[in-house]
Amino acid sequence: MKSPVRVAVTGAAGQIGYALLFRIAAGDMLGADQPVILHLLEITPALPALQGVVMELNDCAFPTLAGVVATDDVNVAFKDVDYALLVGARPRGPGMERKDLLEANGAIFAPQGKALSDHAKRDVKVLVVGNPANTNALIAQQNAPSLDPKCFTAMVRLDHNRALSQLAEKTGAHTTDIKKVTIWGNHSSTQYPDIHHTTVKGKAATDLIDQAWYADTFIPVVQQRGAAIIKARGASSAASAASAAVDHMRSWALGTAEGDWVSMGIPSDGSYGIAPGVIYGYPVATKGGKYEIVQGLEINAFSRERMAATEKELREERAAVEHLFAK
Ligand code: NAD
Ligand code: LMR
Repeated sequence: MKSPVRVAVTGAAGQIGYALLFRIAAGDMLGADQPVILHLLEITPALPALQGVVMELNDCAFPTLAGVVATDDVNVAFKDVDYALLVGARPRGPGMERKDLLEANGAIFAPQGKALSDHAKRDVKVLVVGNPANTNALIAQQNAPSLDPKCFTAMVRLDHNRALSQLAEKTGAHTTDIKKVTIWGNHSSTQYPDIHHTTVKGKAATDLIDQAWYADTFIPVVQQRGAAIIKARGASSAASAASAAVDHMRSWALGTAEGDWVSMGIPSDGSYGIAPGVIYGYPVATKGGKYEIVQGLEINAFSRERMAATEKELREERAAVEHLFAK
């Protein structure tokens, strides 16, 4: 067994938290040889419910669970953490505009960014799940002056996994037969799921499906999947979101497979003509705990138009929250 690492999860008593904590504690995220100390953050009224979750975590007697800290103090929650999964966010209420939502979340993610900057390990890996995830990640990053901006990422892995699943079903393959899918841009309905470089059992995906299915079914189904689940369940995706968060962190920490990549929302460095700084979904390969954008992919006019549309939305979101950035 390695020595334990500290993993913070915010919104720990919420529905994603309930699906996520047990996966992390069981070793699914960082491996069966990596003990974890969970740091669980909740708002004060949710602390009694969180205590119940802590009791259940202890009752699982996981070999890889080395301790649990449960708190409503962000400075305690992020003390010395190696990983931080920021799940807790303000849900959209009746009559709330996207702008109001961004503002309400600024009040959560600005102090959390500062607390990470003040207390977390210098190479902390931060994943923002709480919506609007990309721009919440940007707010946290812009309030964390002492951390490398690359420490902050947003989750588009659920969209990536949804794309794998839709394509597997269509082609009669298994998701593990599919390589090199990309989710470009925002975790929103403007995201662009791109299969131009994708292979299914080594064959080009674009040769196996027709363009009309791709443009008129696949893309909108992946873009709208979150809304379809809310309609069916009466609540947003939780177990699949938790599973994608586990996948995102595992890929980042333990590396991607040779000849494949994953999608992560990361600070744009201008690659593929995207405005520098916005947290944009890119194809990335990871090694030794670092991610790099996969470069040199050919982008046709169909893709370019969609990549630009989701980039525009992210630039607009950034403009709406710029006043929340630390000077
Ligand atoms: P939920 O309402 O069940 O749980 C959220 C929890 O966060 C609540 O327990 C709440 O008390 C807590 N919380 C609120 N503010 C907090 C703060 N300042 N500090 C700590 N905890 C706080 O919601 P959920 O279903 O678990 O979803 C969480 C978020 O994840 C939502 O924003 C949802 O839209 C988002 N989401 C993202 C994706 C994605 O792919 N990126 C997918 C699904 C859901
Ligand atoms: C999802 O993709 O399932 C969620 O982000 C949907 C939502 O709006 O909460």
